[in-house]
Amino acid sequence: MKKYLINNAMIVPVDDERSPYFKGDLLVEGERIEKIVERPGVIEPDSDTEIIVGENLIVMPGLVNGHGHTAMTLFRSYADDMPLQEWLEEKIWPIEELLSADDIYWGTLLGIAEMIKGGTTTFTDMYFFMDQVAKAAVESGMKAVLSRGLVGLTDEDEKGLQETEEFINRWHGEERGRINVTIGPHAPYTCPPEYLKKVMALAEKTGRPLQIHLSETRKEVEDSLRQWGFSPPEQLYNMGFFDYPVIAAHCVHLMERDFYLLQEKNVGVIHNPGSNLKLGSGIASAAGMLKEGIRVGLGTDGAASNNNLDMIEEMRLAALISKGASEDPTLIDAAAAMKMATVNGAEILGLSETGSLREGYKADLVGLRCDRPHLIPMHDPVAHLVYAAQAADVELVIVDGQILLEKGELKTLDEEKIKAEAEKCAFRLREGIKKKR
Ligand code: NI
Repeated sequence: MKKYLINNAMIVPVDDERSPYFKGDLLVEGERIEKIVERPGVIEPDSDTEIIVGENLIVMPGLVNGHGHTAMTLFRSYADDMPLQEWLEEKIWPIEELLSADDIYWGTLLGIAEMIKGGTTTFTDMYFFMDQVAKAAVESGMKAVLSRGLVGLTDEDEKGLQETEEFINRWHGEERGRINVTIGPHAPYTCPPEYLKKVMALAEKTGRPLQIHLSETRKEVEDSLRQWGFSPPEQLYNMGFFDYPVIAAHCVHLMERDFYLLQEKNVGVIHNPGSNLKLGSGIASAAGMLKEGIRVGLGTDGAASNNNLDMIEEMRLAALISKGASEDPTLIDAAAAMKMATVNGAEILGLSETGSLREGYKADLVGLRCDRPHLIPMHDPVAHLVYAAQAADVELVIVDGQILLEKGELKTLDEEKIKAEAEKCAFRLREGIKKKR
C-alpha cells in the first residue's frame, strides 16, 4: 500500500470538529487519510513512506464541482454575450447535434485536465455519450458523478431512460466507488410531467438520485406559472419528484414558498454563480437558502457559459456576489464559501467519505503554493483560499490516495496530447457548422 506523508503544511480541514486551520502533518495510506496531527513534525515516516514537503503548501480538501457539462469545453468562447434561450437555440443546440463520441471523449479529458490543475477532485456531468465520459474519468483518476442528459419532448426520448438504466448498471460504483451514476432529467421545461413520472419510476427502481436544472431564469418561472399555475419547484413537489434525493442546479429565481419546499424535502442545491452572471440569469440567494437550512454546493456549469471550470474562482464569486447583491459584507463569509465548494457539495452528491480532511476519509486533497506575492503575508489561510488564491497556485492533487498532479504537472494524463486532440475536435465542429448554414 502506498504511503505519503505531507509534513509541516498549513492544513485547512473544513471539518467542524477541528480548528479552521493549523500547521501540521497528514499521512495518506492507500486510498485513505490515515492520520492528521495538529503539530508539525510529529508523525515519524517509516522507510516505505514517500515524503511530500508541505513547507510552502496550504492543504485543503479537494474541490467538488457539483454541476457541469464537461465536454462543453469544446465550445469555450464559441457563443458569448447572449441570453440563455437564444444561446441554446441558435448556437449551442445546433453545434451539439454535430458532437461525436470522440469529441465527447477529448472534450471531457480537456475539462478534466483543467479541473485537476485547478484543485477539483470530484466533477459532476450531465451530457451525452456518457460511456466516453466515464472512460475519461477512469483514465484520469478523478472522482465522478455522471448522468446522461434526458429530454422528454419526443417519442424518441424513451431511449434515454433505457440508456440511463444500462449506464447505471455498467458504471455505478466502478473503480471502488470512484465512478457514480445519477439520473439526469434536463429541466421541468424540457421534461413534461408524464415523462418525469417515468424518470421517477427509474429512480424508484435503481435507487439513484436525480439531477435537474431548476428555476434558472425568470422566463422559466413565468412560463411555468402561466402553463401550470405553479413555480417549477412547486410543480416538482406536487408530483412527488422531491420524494427522491434531488440535486437541483441553479435555483436563481425562487419564490418565497419554494424555499420551504426545498428545505422540507432536503433538496440539495448547486449554486453556479459564474454561469448565472454570464448568461444574465440573475443572482441566486445562496445566503437565503443557507439561512433556511437548505444545503447549497457550488458548480461551474459548462465552459460555454462560464468560460472556465475554475472552482476557486467560483468560491470567490459566490462570496462576492452575495455581499454585493445584499449590500451586506457579512453574508457568505470565506468559511461558508469553502464549505459550499467542498463538504456541502460532497454531501449533496451522496459521497459520504470526502469533502473534509478527516482520518478514515478518502484521501481527496489539494495542495496550493502559498509563497507567491499575492499570498503573502498569510494572516488567515481560509480567507486566502477564497479571496486571494488562483487555480495556478494548485500544485498537488490526490484522489483516493493516487497523485493526479505533482509540482503542477498532470501525472495520469498527457496534457499536450489532450490539448492537440481537443483543438482538432473543435476545428471539425466549426467546419461542420459552416456547412450546415
Ligand atoms: Ni447546466
